[in-house]
Amino acid sequence: MIGHKLILLHEIDSTNNYAARLLEQGKLEHGTVILAGRQTAGRGQRGNEWRSALENQLAYSVYAETAFLSADRYWYLNLAVSLAVKATVESLLHGAEVRIKWPNDILVNSKKLSGILLETQWRSGAIRGAVIGIGMNIYPEPNLPSACALRDFSGEDFRMTDLAVSLSAQLNLFFEKLRNGEWNDLLNAYEAALWRRDAEQIARLPDGSEIAGSIRGIDGGGNLLFEHAAGKEIKSYGLKEIAFSY
Ligand code: BTN
Repeated sequence: MIGHKLILLHEIDSTNNYAARLLEQGKLEHGTVILAGRQTAGRGQRGNEWRSALENQLAYSVYAETAFLSADRYWYLNLAVSLAVKATVESLLHGAEVRIKWPNDILVNSKKLSGILLETQWRSGAIRGAVIGIGMNIYPEPNLPSACALRDFSGEDFRMTDLAVSLSAQLNLFFEKLRNGEWNDLLNAYEAALWRRDAEQIARLPDGSEIAGSIRGIDGGGNLLFEHAAGKEIKSYGLKEIAFSY
């Protein structure tokens, strides 16, 4: 079960790194959650830094065995984790508009509240599991206008351990859906939650060009389906192939 054991650290380079080290030493079992009050080298997607200047932002990592997922369904892990974080935020901020910015940024009112870093763990050429890293802003960080924090929406005292319990509960619910092979439900829920779906916007391509169009959903491989305003052609884009501003 996710969350059956909790390791609480005052300060660490990165909770994902710590999990990977324990795993390498054979000291990490499925479902163990690692929390840190502060990360000195928190990592984000695409090799970016995860800002952790302030203490007491949620830094949560959990190791999950995923042997029950076939390779062609592995990307559903991203859907399940994104939906679990979304559900957690909805339970904390009643009535807030929570959206998933493809592939897995969690936005409230179009500002980033939470980010997810999934790191696949391999053994003998096969996937054995994933370290699921989740960062969530509790207190607003100055100088980050595109981000938001739980405390922007509520004066509640969001304790890290309580947040971890809520996150773990939602992860367990969504892992159950993965185990049961509820692919359509996961896909439909994810697509319904996509940020700015069907709204015309400008996307940036790696060559620096900009195109107008609308997000329509994702394809069978987890790529983003983007319909070009000009010509109405729907193209699929992989992770580093398209970007959007908030
Ligand atoms: C992103 O949006 O770029 C992903 C951010 C993921 C940050 C979390 S914080 C806990 C875990 N440890 C890390 O070093 N990164 C993830």
